[in-house]
This record gives sequence, C-alpha cells and structure tokens, in this order.
Amino acid sequence: MKLIVAKSAGFCYGVKRAVAMCEAAADEFEPCFTLGPIIHNEVVVGELAERGVRCASHISEIPENATVVIRSHGAGKSDYECLKNKRANIIDATCPDVKKIHEIVSAQSKAGRFILIIGSSGHPEVKAIAGWCDEHAIFESADELISWLNIKKNAEKDLSVVFQTTTSKILYETCVKTIKKECTNHKLFDTICNATFKRQQEAEYISKTTDAILVVGDKNSSNSQSLKHICSHHSKKVFFLSSADEIDLAEFCQLDVIGVTAGASTPASIIKEVIRKMSKETNMDGTTAEQEESTLQEPEASPKQEAVQSAEPAEEKKEVVETEPDSEADDDDDSESFEELLEKSIKTLRTGEKVSGVVTSITSTEVSVDLGTKQSGYIPITEFIDDGNTSIDDVIKVGDTIESFVMRVNDVEGMVMLSKKRLDAIKNWDIVESARENKSIIEGTVTEENKGGIVVNVKGVRVFVPASQTGLPKSAQMSELMKKTVRLRITEVNQSRRRVVGSIRLVQGDERREKAEQVWNEIEVGKKYDGVVKSMTSYGVFVDIGGVDGMVHISELSWTRIKQPSEVMAVGDEVSVYVISFDKESKKISLGYKKGEDNPWTKFTDTYKVGDVASVKIVKMMPFGAFAEICSGVDGLIHISQITDRRIGLPSEVLSDGQMVDVKITEIDNDRKKVSLSIRALLESPAQSGGGGSSAMHDDADDDDNSPAIVYDTDNPPSMDELDDMETEEE
Ligand code: F3S
Repeated sequence: MKLIVAKSAGFCYGVKRAVAMCEAAADEFEPCFTLGPIIHNEVVVGELAERGVRCASHISEIPENATVVIRSHGAGKSDYECLKNKRANIIDATCPDVKKIHEIVSAQSKAGRFILIIGSSGHPEVKAIAGWCDEHAIFESADELISWLNIKKNAEKDLSVVFQTTTSKILYETCVKTIKKECTNHKLFDTICNATFKRQQEAEYISKTTDAILVVGDKNSSNSQSLKHICSHHSKKVFFLSSADEIDLAEFCQLDVIGVTAGASTPASIIKEVIRKMSKETNMDGTTAEQEESTLQEPEASPKQEAVQSAEPAEEKKEVVETEPDSEADDDDDSESFEELLEKSIKTLRTGEKVSGVVTSITSTEVSVDLGTKQSGYIPITEFIDDGNTSIDDVIKVGDTIESFVMRVNDVEGMVMLSKKRLDAIKNWDIVESARENKSIIEGTVTEENKGGIVVNVKGVRVFVPASQTGLPKSAQMSELMKKTVRLRITEVNQSRRRVVGSIRLVQGDERREKAEQVWNEIEVGKKYDGVVKSMTSYGVFVDIGGVDGMVHISELSWTRIKQPSEVMAVGDEVSVYVISFDKESKKISLGYKKGEDNPWTKFTDTYKVGDVASVKIVKMMPFGAFAEICSGVDGLIHISQITDRRIGLPSEVLSDGQMVDVKITEIDNDRKKVSLSIRALLESPAQSGGGGSSAMHDDADDDDNSPAIVYDTDNPPSMDELDDMETEEE
C-alpha cells in the first residue's frame, strides 16, 4: 500500500495565527475568553482550556473587563460594540481573509446594495459576515439561490455576492453561473481564501489518482466538510474521520494507493497519528512509519500535480472573478472604487515591489495591512517602535494608509511579509546622498554601539559614526549616546557596499563656529553670559560662553583669598560670568565671576562707621600691630600703640592669634580699603579722652601714648601707604 498525503494538509495561516494569539493572551491575561471555540477542533480547544482559556457561547457569559479573543471566524459588528460596552480587552484574531469580507459587505451595504452570502447559514463565519451587512440573504446551495432569483424582483436588485471562505469550488462555480445568467446588476466577489483553494485543488487531484481518500477534520469544520464534498465527486471511497481511532483498517486491505488530506483546522499531531496508524498496521513495504511519513509529504511528481503545487491560483480564478458589466454603476463613484477593488483582487505581488495598503488591525506583534489583493500583508510591530519608548498608537492607527516593501510572498498561506523600514531606507537613500553632497545636517537615533563607534538610524539608513567623530571626550562612554537623537553630517556614501559614514563632531564644530561669530558680534563690557567651565589652571578657569572660551582670573573668582580655583568651581559647572574686557583681534576675553553685591567692603561700610565698637578676631600678629577680622573678607589693623594704655615691645605680649577682643573703629579709608582699630580707645575714660572714645583718640594725636591708630613710631610715624607696604611685604 502507498499513502499520498496532501502538502497543504493541516493548519492554515489564519488558524495558526488565531491559536498563537489565543495562547499568548492566555499567558498574559486572566480571565481570558473566546467568543465561541477559537477554531473548529475539539483537541485544540481542550488544550487551550487547560491553559485557562474559557469558551463563551454567548457574550452574556463574559464578565466586564475580561479579555476576549475574537476567533478566526470573526464576529458581527454588534458583538464588538457589546464587548466594548463591557469594557472588554478585545484581541482580534479574525482571519484577515474573513476581515476582508466584512469590509467588502460593509462598504457594499453602505452603497445601498443587497448582499448575497453563499455559505452555511449556521456557521459562525457566515453569521459574522451577516453582522456587517444591512439587507442580505444567505444561501447554502445553488438550488436555494436559483429559487430566490426566480422571483423577478429579487433578480432585479442591485446584488453584491460574497462567498464563505471555505466554499467548495463546485458550489462557487454553480452560483457564479446562475447569477451571471439571472441577474441584471450584480457584483461578484471571489472571497474563497487561498488556503482553502489550495487544499481543494490538492484534494481533487489526490482523490482522482488514488483508490481511496481519508479526509481528516472536525465534523463541525466547514472547510473539512468542503474537502469531503469535493473528494466525493472524484472518488468512490471517501472516509471522513476526526482522529486515527476512527480508522477501520479492514476497509483498506484490498487497496493499493490511499490519499490523505485534512482541513485547515486539523492539528498536525492528528494527521501524523493517522499516517502512523495506516503505515504501521498495513506494514507498508516494510518501511517505518517515520520514513513513510516524510516520503509521503512529497507526492509523486506528475504534470498535473506540478500544477497543483506551483499553479498561481489567482490565475485560474481570474475568469470567475469577473463582474458583469454594470451600466448604472459606471457613473457611480462608489461602484468605480469596487471595480478597482476587483482589479486589485487578481493582482499578483512580487518580492521587492512597493505596495500601498490600509491598516486593518494592530496587535502586540504585527500590523495587518489590506493590500487589496488576495493576500494579507503583515508588518512586524518592531518596525514602528524600535526605541522602546514610543507607543504604537502615536505612530499608526487602524484606517491609516501605509506604503511598504514586499519582503516575501506566501501564496499557500495567503500572506505577504512587508517592511516599512526597508521601503523607508530605499526612499531615504536619496536624502542621505544629497545630505552628503550639500553638507547638510540630518538627524537620527543611535541604535548600536560597537568597538569602532556607533550606528545611527537615519530614516531607515544605517550610518556608521567612528568613535573619533562622535563628539564625545575620550574619557566618555559611547553608550551614553544610545537611543538618543543626534545631529550629524554625512561624510561618505558607498551604495554598492551599502556603507554610509557620518560625523557628529563636524556638526558640533559648525555649530560652535556659528555661535562664536554671534558672541563676537554682540560682546560688550559688562555683558553677562551663562557658561560652562571647560578647564582650570592654577591662575584661573576657562569658561565656554557659547562657542568662545573666556578666562576668569583667580582674583576674579572670589572676594576672599583663595589658593586654587578649584576652591570655587569645577570643570563642567554651569556658571554666570560677565565681561571685564575683550580683544577681538587676539580673540581674548577676560571674565569676572565674583558679584558686586557680595563685596565684603560694601557689606562692612553698610554695617559700620568710625567710632563704632566691634567684636573682632585676631588673625595675624606683626611687630607693628595685630590684624583683626571685623567681618568676612575685611581685616583692620590694631596698631601696637593702640593695643593697650601702656608701652609694649610686641603685640604678642598682650594678644594672641584667634583671640576675640572689642575694638573701636578709629579710621576707615574707603579709597584704599583700610581700617584702623583701637583697643586702647575703649580703655580710656570719657574724662581722659574728653568725650567719646574716638574723639579722645583724635584729641590725643600729639601725645606719644595716644597716637592715632595708624602711627607706628611716635617719633617717626609711618604713613598709611607705608603700613600698606609693610602688610603686603609680610604677606
Ligand atoms: Fe482564514 Fe482561510 Fe484559514 S479564511 S482561517 S486562511 S481557511
């Protein structure tokens, strides 16, 4: 005995997709429901139930806020509305081929046409299609259709005809013939899906060339029933079974060649079990079941079978898709668009082609696109949100028209893999080329980091930026730039090697030059700038004030004495500075940092006047007196003669560093920022001083013991200048 197994037997892409979506939903959401069995196969439904998926036979069984997977057969418009009212999380696993029929009937109804649906009235797919129509009628057989059309007023209606996706070729052809003969104004839509078409072709061929054929499928599966129907036309022995258990081997003992086919909702495990049982029990040519199984996947080549395997189904269907001439519709814009739709439905797609379509659904993994062809298009969701931060809703929505590039066409599964990125890359290649020629700046997102540099995605084109051109300091990590938007200039384009090189540094250089020019045009003494500390030396810091560096001398950093600029600021600090002076020719700018309002001398003179008494701290001892801090940044001198009311050799005989003493302010020299202090003035009684402490000091100016605070030697008193010099020398 020999077995021939149909290549297309088992899950179609629509079923695979629905089951995968349901499994993913079961893992992620709780509670998770399907509205009716996800596909017509009890084994699959049972497995999903074990994963927590509950099958609701009616929407009323679904609680609010639940996750609901719409099965591959689809659902009516009102079901969606009802689920929305229940705030359900809807995961739409409707097969794209079925979805397309919903769109067709919905648009045809809107155009005022009467919809004829050829299919099983009780089948969920047909019920769902009816749920998207206004006026409609459903026919399960050609006879029913003929009787309805025999009523004249029905035949005269503006009819649009669609077919259940799993309709048999025989029924389809009979109905088409009848409608063409009876109706005056009709539009025919060949909505049998490619997966079904392929299975039916193979089933027909195998049933003609074998002694018997096994059709494996669930009894409720419409496409499995259609296969049985087709096989029955060409073979006298057709066995319809849902599992290997139903095989009665006695039936096959006299047969030489047996065919096996299976519906689109039959899992591979069941088909394999059937093949195993047939192989083992009949001991076929002494080979093992596994060997037979793999051999049998490839039916013997024959011209006819070649046609089955590689024929373009659309070509054969072209003839029957034709619409009868519709004179009334010629003037109708809507009708025109459906003529176009029909035109497109027979279009063949090729890899590398640019296509345009409408987004029909968006899931967590893919965007479905209706290309107006028999195949449904898919674009991976990652093509839209590769930065991880963007929401898909911000990028694209259902109903949007989108252009893409055909990556792969799978006619058997009726699907086309599309790429938007690839098309963008092709379209944007010219933009990149002209950016190089014009030296213009373009933007991109950093997507990769490697040894030599980074890769920037510029409108879908990969642009390599060497590490030296990233604009980062040597010590910085290139990973800092990951996922950031950068501005760059294209420096090299090699189309044949698909190599593009860019530079961020060049852009930064250009920008810096532009800013520098602006600074030099507008600079003036006193102008304030916000800048960034670029570098530091022992004598000052260099601050970038926007394309130009200026220097802040250490003496301009603080009002108090500092030893290092780092006591005030660090590299990278953002600081406010002002221009002290500049030279456009030598390109030098001198900046100030310390603020006038922080000037300690101003604060001192605002607080004290001559004659005031202050509590001060001795900070430095000199032979001619002691310096004392009056307030932060202002010291005064207590001359040796003003330390006490008796003669002393050195200030240290009375005072010590850090000691706090009360003093009288005896003189303030605003020009030279000098202050004279006296302890002695506070020791004298008002009678001795002839009044207040300070006036007594002045009254005693000619007395050696009561000399003014600035007098060092009573015989040869130093001037303020001399005292100043002494102080400076000492320092
Ligand atoms: Fe879809 Fe056709 Fe399968 S309609 S679910 S691809 S049988």
